Amino acid sequence: MKNKPIRLSVIMLAALMAFSAAGGCFLLPAAAETAPVYTIGNIREYVVGVDEPVELADGAMRPLINFDNAATTPVLRPVMDAVDRELTMYGSIGRGFSQKSDHSTALYNDTRDKVLSFVGADPETYICFYVGNTTDGLNKLASALIESEDDLVLATRMEHHANDLPWRERCRVIYAEVDEQGRVIYDDIERLLTENEGRVKYVTVTAASNVTGYVTDVHRVAKIAHAHGAKIIVDGAQIVAHRRFSMLGETPEENIDFFVFSAHKMYSPYGGGAVVGLADELGKHMPEFYGGGIVNIVRDDSQTYKDAPASYEAGSPNYPGVVGLGAAIDVLLEVGFDAISEHEAVLNRRLVDGLRKLPNVIIYGDTEDLSDRVGVVSFNFSDVNTYVLATTLMETGGIATRRGAFCAHPYVWRLMGIPDEQLDSFEECTDVNTPGMIRVSFGIYNTEEEVDALLRILPAAIERAKVKADEEYSRAEPAY
Ligand code: ALA
Repeated sequence: MKNKPIRLSVIMLAALMAFSAAGGCFLLPAAAETAPVYTIGNIREYVVGVDEPVELADGAMRPLINFDNAATTPVLRPVMDAVDRELTMYGSIGRGFSQKSDHSTALYNDTRDKVLSFVGADPETYICFYVGNTTDGLNKLASALIESEDDLVLATRMEHHANDLPWRERCRVIYAEVDEQGRVIYDDIERLLTENEGRVKYVTVTAASNVTGYVTDVHRVAKIAHAHGAKIIVDGAQIVAHRRFSMLGETPEENIDFFVFSAHKMYSPYGGGAVVGLADELGKHMPEFYGGGIVNIVRDDSQTYKDAPASYEAGSPNYPGVVGLGAAIDVLLEVGFDAISEHEAVLNRRLVDGLRKLPNVIIYGDTEDLSDRVGVVSFNFSDVNTYVLATTLMETGGIATRRGAFCAHPYVWRLMGIPDEQLDSFEECTDVNTPGMIRVSFGIYNTEEEVDALLRILPAAIERAKVKADEEYSRAEPAY
């Protein structure tokens, strides 16, 4: 972190001054307190609640092993401290006449520059507007960019619903397929663009899957999209805390046009997020989201609006979310994305190798080459219901996973080999008998010991889950 204040304990300073005034020898303070340097080795010490015990089924209290970071990450202490500190100087953003309002407004706008720099976006070309999360950002983008239900968007079968339904509900969407491991098929993107030459307005892809962790080469997709006259939108929810992301490719054709991400997946769960996009394009549109803060003048029967990014931010903004986002960016950059991805690779390898030794396991994605995956591993067992197993892991091991189809149903059904017609028999995606996987997703603070703890408990948990499936769920079938 740059410009970190050196904090000298007030008591120690007072004692030194008194000692010096009394004519004693002046000694350098041995224990001057300095702001820490955050590294992959020490970051766990700064995760709020990491040692907070939870109650297990037998009444034992134990800290949770949290393997559900793709859903949301805990808050980091420096992020929480920044939010707490800034709330003492909190005033209305862009509307008030006070020192606090001026301070908050300046920090709010300065953080836009930090976000742009974080994703390598030239402020001459790109602007940033704040959103509540990735879903909010993609919905705002879709409502702004889509002009007619005849517009054509190309997505992939890997997408989270947040990067599928906002388009589906507004216009026509065609989908590039994934291969049997779950990787995007680039040639299929090219094929669909060629078949619909000149008609696809936007290609929208996730940078990393929330199900398999597969990373898509979005700059390669950008090049393909641009060659066919389409713009590219990237869902960055699962990449932003895992790999260094840049809007810039190696050539201008590889540049990303729009990038959307959430702060709650990067250790700042205060409801923040951002869209970074081409200033010219965003300036031509507005989302269907109206209110105060976005207008120039409203008359009895007409209104004019401000330019982007203000036009995308109707209503009073979420200041803690923006402060937390800025602080989280600082910490992640300090820990370093090389260190983060190396750490995740170690955890992925350890988990996959351990899982492979268990009977009847099904691991989604390639288990040999894990190099193009962020820290996400999804799996099943062919002889146990994984809804019941995930519940058992929580109740008996204090291990948090996610179980289900992870808001990416078409992708999960493909990976599990479930045909469309079979889906008629399932009513609710979170039902015990609806097919689903167990997902382990890593954060920067997870350890190899935690992976070992999961692997150690799994055989007994599987046996217990089989009994529980009979007793408590009237013979829940394996739903893999
Ligand atoms: N998209 C988040 C997940 O995959 C919520 O769990």
